[in-house]
Order: sequence, then structure tokens, then C-alpha cells
Amino acid sequence: MIGTEVSGIDLAGPISARDFDRMYAAWLDTTILLFRRQSITPQQQIDFSRRFGELLVYTRSENALPGHPEVLVLSNLARDGKPMGSPASGRYWHTDGHYLKCPPAASLLYGAEVPPSGGDTWFANMQAAYEALAAETKVRIDGRQIIISRVKSRPYNYPNKPAVTPEERAAWPDMPQPLVRTHPKTGRKALYVGGNVPWNVVGMAETESDALITDLQAFATQPRFVYVHRWQAGDAILWDNRSSMHRATAYDEVNHRRLMYRTTIAGEQAF
Ligand code: SIN
Repeated sequence: MIGTEVSGIDLAGPISARDFDRMYAAWLDTTILLFRRQSITPQQQIDFSRRFGELLVYTRSENALPGHPEVLVLSNLARDGKPMGSPASGRYWHTDGHYLKCPPAASLLYGAEVPPSGGDTWFANMQAAYEALAAETKVRIDGRQIIISRVKSRPYNYPNKPAVTPEERAAWPDMPQPLVRTHPKTGRKALYVGGNVPWNVVGMAETESDALITDLQAFATQPRFVYVHRWQAGDAILWDNRSSMHRATAYDEVNHRRLMYRTTIAGEQAF
């Protein structure tokens, strides 16, 4: 199972400790929470997100919301002739900040304006995928590390962007991550395999590694592990980056508007 729809909660208002604890438990259990019909300001989104942990601040990001550096804007809209946010992010399967030493634990995405079709977000339950693997595959991958490399992923994930510059190469060190991740709160294991890029498995020949990673990514994104969210304006979704992957789909960016605000909750080193 992936996802819990939470009803009767107003993210703008005070939320009792009892209600919070119940939704927190459901979130750990099902990896995403959906809240419909919300109407929240950026500050209210920040305040609610902070109940889950410290927020990451995008002080140097041109996509941060002015006055609220904790809020990342994902949008095709422009203000004063400048893009308001990142127009086409996350169109490939990924988990946020996989390339960081301490990847974010969670992300909360609020849909302020959404297109009538397309612009969906897909979520894959990586715990369910891990648990469904054959026993011999688990033995083969448990304890393994993969090398996450933004330099390597660039041509896969952004084929239209220019080649990685020497400055980017210097700023983006390779990051070893466990291929199977243990959730720090529940102890459940999840595939932590990213999507779309044949990451190198440490100590494995490249051909074997490529085949293994590609197979695991395909396995984890089968429809039985995936929830497709078709946004309505006012939806908010909180996902757990330690137990899920996600991706956004394309939409008609010329004729329709999409304005999403994301807060990102700090996490711990993966193990
Ligand atoms: C993201 O990858 O964080 C954004 C997903 C989306 O825009 O639907």
C-alpha cells in the first residue's frame, strides 16, 4: 500500500499533538500523506513542515520564494519577465537529494495552481518493492553501496542541458549511498536505487552493475508499487524520501499554469 489520505485536518490551523502523532504514524507506515482542499500561505506551509524536522534552506537557489528561502518554487510562470521557479523539474524517477551526504528525510509539495491535465506526480513505494524482491536478490544487494554521481546523471536526466562544466564537476563529488536503505524510525528496508541512471555498484563489474541497477529500477516502478497523483488545486502531499521515489509528468506549459511550493525537511546520513 502507498499513501494515506488525511481528512479533517487544516494545515493552516493548529493541529493537536494527538492528530499529529496519528498522521505521523500513517506517514511512516505508507510513505506519503495527501491533504486535499487546503489553502495555506508559504509561512503556514513552513510552520507545518517544521513539525517534521528542520527545513533545508535554498539560500543560493534562484528558485526559492522571495522572502521565504525555505520554499522552493516549481512553476512555468513568470513575474516581471523572470521565471518564478524551476519550470520542468523532476521529470525522471528520483529521491530528493540522493547525491547529498545527508539526504532530506521528507518533502512537502503544495499545489497552488495546477493544469487541467498532465503535471501529475508519481510515487513509488521503495519499501514494498524491496520486500517483494526474490530472496536471492536481497542476498545479492544487501550491504552493497552505489555511487551517486550528478556528473554521470546529467545526460540521462537533462539531455538538453549543456555538458557538465569543470566548476560543476568540482562542486559535485561522487556520493556513496547504500543500495538498500534502513529507515531510521521504523527499521524497514527500502531500495535506494534512484531512477533512470545505471549507477555503479561498488566492487561490481560495470556490465553486471548496469544490468542489476536497471533491473532493480524497472522492478521498483511497476504499477503495483506506484501511486499516480492527479493534482487538484489545494492538494498538499508529504512524502518520505527514505522510502519512496517520485517523478513529475509533462503538461501543456504554453497554455496552462502550474504553481507548486515545496518545503524540504532535513534528514540523516543513509545507512
Ligand atoms: C519534485 O520532484 O520535487 C517535484 C515533483 C512535481 O513537480 O510534481
